[in-house]
Amino acid sequence: MNKLLQKLSDITNIHKRAAFSDIPDRLPTRESEFYALAKERYSCREFKDTPLTDIQINHILEAARVAPSAANKQPVHVWVVKSPEALDKLRNATDYTFNAPVVFMVGASRDAAWVRKYDGKNLADVDAAIVGTHIMLEAAAWGLGNIWIGSFDPAKIKADFPETADYEVVCMIPVGVATAAPSQRHWERLPMEEFASEI
Ligand SMILES: Cc1cc2nc3c(=O)[nH]c(=O)nc-3n(C[C@H](O)[C@H](O)[C@H](O)COP(=O)(O)O)c2cc1C
Repeated sequence: MNKLLQKLSDITNIHKRAAFSDIPDRLPTRESEFYALAKERYSCREFKDTPLTDIQINHILEAARVAPSAANKQPVHVWVVKSPEALDKLRNATDYTFNAPVVFMVGASRDAAWVRKYDGKNLADVDAAIVGTHIMLEAAAWGLGNIWIGSFDPAKIKADFPETADYEVVCMIPVGVATAAPSQRHWERLPMEEFASEI
């Protein structure tokens, strides 16, 4: 009887299938909510004047706060730039606020960050990039337009925002009610074969 069962198992490979049956498929047959959001996000370069509500700002900050960081050092600070005076100062340091009602400015402290012992790499800007990504995606989840800005003059930021003295400002993320569609570039991505490979 055992031999018969063994033979059946060999023919059907059922023993192998059973072993893998509790491993979920890497790609679910239907789109995940996260993937839908990731696809929905785009760089928005025109906003309404409408201010963000405190609830929206707080949810975005909360999503940013729970971001992971190397060795959980949490070397990142976020400044919510929204007063007319502060936004004016930002416009002096970058051409890319797009008159958004709020700009999240993300800074990282190199002194507080984890450093890889093998090559001395400081992970501060990596941690800040993860926080920035959480900000963008939470804003997108609220249906708000947003964009990552890397083009700004760090010296002007340092001069006009003394609170950033101990930080490297890594990005600015203007957020608001979107009035612009994605740019042509949004649709341009490397083909999967170029982007990823198995080794
Ligand atoms: C690190 C980084 C820096 C960026 N800096 C700027 C910038 O200074 N000005 C700007 O208009 N867009 C900036 N962008 C937006 C990119 O141009 C945009 O993400 C890219 O063209 C793809 O378009 P999409 O975001 O709509 O998919 C930046 C994006 C990243 C990730």
